[in-house]
Amino acid sequence: MKVLGIIGSPRKEGNTDILVSEVLKGASRDVQLNAHTIEKIYLDDFRLFPCKTCGKCKTTGVCVQPDDFNLILEKIKDSSAIVLGSPVYCKTVTAQTKILIDKIDSSQIIVSSTSDGKTKFSRRIRTNKKGVIICIGDLSGLNTVKQSAGVMRCLFRDLSIEVIDEILANKLSEKGDVLKNKPILQQAFIAGTKLR
Ligand SMILES: Cc1cc2nc3c(=O)[nH]c(=O)nc-3n(C[C@H](O)[C@H](O)[C@H](O)COP(=O)(O)O)c2cc1C
Repeated sequence: MKVLGIIGSPRKEGNTDILVSEVLKGASRDVQLNAHTIEKIYLDDFRLFPCKTCGKCKTTGVCVQPDDFNLILEKIKDSSAIVLGSPVYCKTVTAQTKILIDKIDSSQIIVSSTSDGKTKFSRRIRTNKKGVIICIGDLSGLNTVKQSAGVMRCLFRDLSIEVIDEILANKLSEKGDVLKNKPILQQAFIAGTKLR
């Protein structure tokens, strides 16, 4: 089992980071998991160029741009569970998170035509991975947070990863605010235990 936590917030030790870490803690409870089986990455530490719709990934499944997308994709493929977290920025996910979601969508969905001329979408890979979505905001209503989590769902859909929990919260502003929200921390920990 390998669990990969992906943090879409550029703020290390912020609310998203804390919640993703809590899920990872839940996943590693009572089990001897080491650095090889739990990994946490910050998208902001990687070079990610936006998708240019060049279409070259359609045949290969990999991006031709000189960035770190293929590296992150390999990490996702190597994991049995994915925890993806993003704060709401301007009513959607962060730019870092969106680039990853777009590039997964471009490279992992194959578009073809059926014999009767209809467009057919199929997934490049089928997995039995599990996933958790974490999406948090501040002043926006929970409906906006949920909508942003819906954007994150595209990644899980494209990789056929079963989403076992969606952790949503608002009224989180400063770094560490989420530490005062015990129910959401508990939800995150419990979600982690279900990833095993
Ligand atoms: C550029 C920017 C845009 C934001 N836009 C929204 C927004 O539209 N809705 C909202 O509820 N919070 C918004 N926020 C607040 C963050 O979602 C909130 O502070 C969150 O706790 C940050 O998560 P982090 O601690 O993981 O970085 C925004 C923050 C920034 C920096």
